Amino acid sequence: MRILVIGGGGREHALVWKLAQSKQAEKIYVAPGNPGIAPLAECVPLDTANNELVVKWVQDNKIDLVVVGPEVPLVAGLGDALRKAGTAVFGPSAAAAAIEGSKTFSKELMKKYNIPTAFFKVCTDLEEAKAFVRKQGAPIVIKADGLAAGKGVVVAMQEKEALDALDEIMGKHKFGAAGASVVIEEFMDGEEASLFAFTDGKTIVPMVAAQDHKRVNDDDKGPNTGGMGAYAPAPVLTEALKEKCMETIIRPTLAAMAKEGRPYSGCLYTGLMIKGDSAKVVEFNCRFGDPETQAVLPLLDGDLAEIMMACATGTLRPEMVKWSNKAAVCVVMASGGYPGTYKKGLPITGLQEADALQDVVVFHAGTKTVDGRIVTNGGRVLGVTAIGNNIPQAKEKAYAAVERIHFAEAHYRSDIAWRALKRLKNSH
Ligand code: AMP
Ligand code: GLY
Repeated sequence: MRILVIGGGGREHALVWKLAQSKQAEKIYVAPGNPGIAPLAECVPLDTANNELVVKWVQDNKIDLVVVGPEVPLVAGLGDALRKAGTAVFGPSAAAAAIEGSKTFSKELMKKYNIPTAFFKVCTDLEEAKAFVRKQGAPIVIKADGLAAGKGVVVAMQEKEALDALDEIMGKHKFGAAGASVVIEEFMDGEEASLFAFTDGKTIVPMVAAQDHKRVNDDDKGPNTGGMGAYAPAPVLTEALKEKCMETIIRPTLAAMAKEGRPYSGCLYTGLMIKGDSAKVVEFNCRFGDPETQAVLPLLDGDLAEIMMACATGTLRPEMVKWSNKAAVCVVMASGGYPGTYKKGLPITGLQEADALQDVVVFHAGTKTVDGRIVTNGGRVLGVTAIGNNIPQAKEKAYAAVERIHFAEAHYRSDIAWRALKRLKNSH
């Protein structure tokens, strides 16, 4: 199988790393890729925002399967363009990617099909939105309708914060057209988990649950980021609760999408809010999550190329997807200053020493090669991941690897997986 992976972050490094272990993967290309991926796959400078160009390249290079990592090309219809040209694609159509691309669409879908989520109202008029916020009071959550690179959500603990967010999004068009409409929703209290599932549109198979760490500092303090680390499996999602989520959320959502004429295939990412034995949907994404994928895929025992091709061709069977009973922890090493401004081009040392440790893999998220040296090139630089027999062991190995790696002003959290560890402690 000749495979093209679209993307160049930590998620794509994890995808390529797992695909490269497949006996079926003859040749892997990645566009654009990154220096961590380069030893595993051929990185090609392809303009992935240009669907026609990608289709032509895929045909010229006789690609059998395209795996689309990020949401932007999916929402822009890259999957449709490729499928129309006869190529197998892992990732939904634009119509199905609306489950992430339009929060209005996904909330209306959940309402129509009784899928548990926060109470909400959609507004396209600023004054109407403000009146609703004043009526509901805080805490309350404001979400721009469209894609906003993960920055379109404001969880407002005070009413003023919510009103200011509406002014920014609807009045000043902070996210452009993505904010023409907003979802205003009830604040949900609880613990979050990310549950991904492989699906070919009919069969859906869950992965191990993961937990992300959004805030930049320890103890979940400081501003939100793209994610400072992750671990899997997340014990907050017990087997019983996972099965309940499959029954009440995930299977009904897949059926709803088909019924709406938007059959969904690829990876369905369900962001859950868990409280006791109840789970509600925070959001759906039309792709793998980052950094969670870096903790989930190391636990997959199946053949990822085979699974992805089966998802793309309607031939997924549950027995293809198996999981090891180990645990994985991913610690993100970020540039000092992230998620605000930060420097780029700082040399990174110790990568080989860290990678050489047993059960450790250093995924690259924002790196670049300059004159043969690897330097920082983004906010999130590396996802240092370790596998262990359990979460405490995986955590210890991940931090031992982090300590080998150096770059100026490196920042990372020291408490990744704290919720799982707290649960373990309480259960003894
Ligand atoms: P989203 O992009 O919809 O996942 O929102 C980003 C983050 O905002 C989520 O991961 C949650 O931490 C938080 N969030 C979103 N919606 C709610 C809600 N209704 N109640 C509480 N927190 C929320
Ligand atoms: N880890 C959150 C996301 O990928 O959206």
